[in-house]
Amino acid sequence: MAREKPAVTPGSGPAAGEAGETDLISLEATAQRISEMLSAIGAIGADPAGGVSRLAYTEPERDAHRLAATWLTELGLRVREDPAGNTIADDPTGDDTTARIVLGSHLDSVPRGGNFDGVAGVVAAVEVVRGFQARGWRLSHPLRVVCLAGEEGARFGEPCIGSKAIAGLLPASALNELTDEHGVTLGQAMRNVGLDPAHLSEARWSSRDAAAFLELHVEQARILEDEGVPLGLVDAIAGSARMLLTVKGRADHSGGALMRDRGDALAAAAEIVLTVESAGRESANHGLRATVGRMAVEPNSLTTIPGLVRLAIDVRDVDTERLRAVATSLINAAGEICDRRGVVLDARVIADTSPAILPTWVRQVATDTCREMGLEYRVVTSGAGRDAQVMNHLAPAGLVLVPSRRGLSHVPDEWTSSVDIARGVSLMVEWVARLDQRMAQWEHVGG
Ligand code: HGY
Ligand code: MN
Ligand code: MN
Repeated sequence: MAREKPAVTPGSGPAAGEAGETDLISLEATAQRISEMLSAIGAIGADPAGGVSRLAYTEPERDAHRLAATWLTELGLRVREDPAGNTIADDPTGDDTTARIVLGSHLDSVPRGGNFDGVAGVVAAVEVVRGFQARGWRLSHPLRVVCLAGEEGARFGEPCIGSKAIAGLLPASALNELTDEHGVTLGQAMRNVGLDPAHLSEARWSSRDAAAFLELHVEQARILEDEGVPLGLVDAIAGSARMLLTVKGRADHSGGALMRDRGDALAAAAEIVLTVESAGRESANHGLRATVGRMAVEPNSLTTIPGLVRLAIDVRDVDTERLRAVATSLINAAGEICDRRGVVLDARVIADTSPAILPTWVRQVATDTCREMGLEYRVVTSGAGRDAQVMNHLAPAGLVLVPSRRGLSHVPDEWTSSVDIARGVSLMVEWVARLDQRMAQWEHVGG
């Protein structure tokens, strides 16, 4: 991608909305291409009941990666797939000794989710690469685009599987320990889609690979829309603790068994659900989110007292101590409820992802850029988890959010305008250029 033109001179690019040297750069042209890419990828895993289902390590997720790989190949990047199913595309002008500025997000979804969660960040990364090519700018830190696999914890509980493999935060034991609700292990799911998890460790990057990581993501909340602000620059990303609870009671006849003789697993689970909700609503826990999103009842028969219930708890917080304290207190409370009701509880922590405070200097470059480009922004916290919080273990990360209509996400009605995504692209092109210059100066000083 390097051209004979001088190294990048940030700010020399056309401001957002102005036709650049070629039509490739205008906001409208970028938005049009983004809309076309979103439509194409939205057809993959389209659920007849609405939304998309591209669960981690299923064929629809792999098909989405294959489509993104063609976009990246068409841009002249060197594309490969790693053993964790991440798609990695490198500017061929960079060599393996130069740390890269990495852009990307994920392509998997929750069941019947939206087509913007993760995907918006991948199509934005494609457009940032195109933006640099159209400007003929050369970077000291060549670009890498990464399409991450298995970001959603919806299937295995563990979020950010692909980025954790890259950051060296996914133990090999996870391949057998993590299972979906059908008992399929993560390792088996990977093999089912043609990956070879035996080589999982080869997915890990060295600290020299990435100089910085930037992600664009849809907000999945409604602050930006409510305030009419098109860009959110993230200061902190919530962590998540996820627990799988099994309540074992005594199945029996719903007509014959006296109320005093029952071991009703669903009644106990219902009390646990309300306890989870009240933990999230407690004023002392302001900012914490606690949810039971999945429950399976056995035998799930109208005239049988439920003998067994499996439920999953999802706790989110930007405060590490409080996140883990509330998660622990919920398991203890569930134990007391089950003891009192004469049923048995088994509780397992199935995922624990730390919150991340993103590096201020990376965000500062973005806020300076917004001011000079006349782009309105506000600093926001991300209540949803992001690959950026994992990649931040490897390289300083930045995260820009764009508005979600009515804040909706993880549902078929999830929607974000292509122009908002294109505006995020115009910021990211300049953001990357300035980060590149800043880091090159530091490296030069460092000798
Ligand atoms: O669920 C989340 O936190 C995000 O959508 N991965
Ligand atoms: Mn996401
Ligand atoms: Mn999501």
